[in-house]
Amino acid sequence: MNPFRYGCTVNGDFFCPRPVLERELASRIESGQNVVMQGDRRTGKTSLVIETVRHMKNIALFHADFLCVRDQADVCRRLVAAIARLEDSESWATKTLRMLAHLRPTVSIDPSSGSPTVTVDARVAAEPTTLDSVLDVLLEQTKRRKICVLLDEFQDILDIDDGERTLAVLRSRIQLDANTPYIFLGSVRNKMAEIFFKYSSPFYHSAASFKVGNIDADDFFEFIKRRFATGGRILPRLVFDAIAHTAHETPGFVQELCDALWQMSDNGTTLEESDIKKALAIIFAREHDHFTFAIKQLTALQTRVLRTIAERGGKEIFSSAFLAEAQIFNAASVKKAVEKLEREDIIYNYDGEYRFVSPFFGEWLLRR
Ligand SMILES: Nc1ncnc2c1ncn2[C@@H]1O[C@H](COP(=O)(O)OP(=O)(O)OP(=O)(O)O)[C@@H](O)[C@H]1O
Ligand SMILES: [Mg+2]
Repeated sequence: MNPFRYGCTVNGDFFCPRPVLERELASRIESGQNVVMQGDRRTGKTSLVIETVRHMKNIALFHADFLCVRDQADVCRRLVAAIARLEDSESWATKTLRMLAHLRPTVSIDPSSGSPTVTVDARVAAEPTTLDSVLDVLLEQTKRRKICVLLDEFQDILDIDDGERTLAVLRSRIQLDANTPYIFLGSVRNKMAEIFFKYSSPFYHSAASFKVGNIDADDFFEFIKRRFATGGRILPRLVFDAIAHTAHETPGFVQELCDALWQMSDNGTTLEESDIKKALAIIFAREHDHFTFAIKQLTALQTRVLRTIAERGGKEIFSSAFLAEAQIFNAASVKKAVEKLEREDIIYNYDGEYRFVSPFFGEWLLRR
């Protein structure tokens, strides 16, 4: 069996322990502290919370994900679905439906997972008072038992039409729930900063900051080496370092590359640095449509900016050397181009340096 997983949360054997972070997070959850957790994409934020809570006694996890949430009604529906998931006993449907009776909920089958889920009618969800009612139900639950509330990809709420108001309603309810730990998790730094660190925001200073970076290199090497060993592959440290470098040290991309290395190697082989190139070819083939589609959304100028970042890195993108290489005459055009590339989630700004969200996309561009 392939021992690598990417693009989903990981737990159990697929999760490389992060004892320092797990301990710190557990102690905050234990004391009912609210936490704003930030980290770049695919660093393992969601898995860390799930795995930490799983190891704690007598605490349930409420997990609502707001990735690409459309409007306030959608916020309500995601909260309702998460409330329903809190009940894992057989009578969950009956219990949940009773709790939410005033919202006239219905049980349906989630097309992506095939499992039953509870939804509320779009009209009901869109009523202005529904958000308050849904949060009241959550509050009743957190009074009854210990729950850790995880609000994932929280920054996307800011993007909906009524974002500011929705945040204000959420904030006012959360304030009433002092003993429950709320974890606000986000991967888009500047937007999370706007919610939690901007003076005029309702969430200003409402949660302790918690950073999730990449996994310690020695720990991750031991973990990945053991995963390869389950299928008789030997991973020398130098090859691991090259894998990590190619994948920008990001756990999710390291696992994706290892998955491809697994596919192209046989039981009993010792992996070599030259195998990484072959593994990348597998990833490029898989991602071809996706990468090509992304490029087609861009103008020629935006593509030149992107390619130049791939070639010379994303620091000093307004320098004359960068402009010359990208064949662009003014810095304002570069600024507009990077704004578009950020909106498309192709690059992000890391302390003033522009980086590819997917390290493989940059490699792919270079080889074209
Ligand atoms: N502790 C870990 N051990 C091993 N792999 C991990 C670990 N944490 C994350 N990963 C890898 O990263 C991938 C993404 O994990 P996860 O969804 O938890 O990250 P995330 O930071 O929440 O990502 P996103 O930005 O997409 O929300 C996993 O599929 C796995 O490949
Ligand atoms: Mg996540």
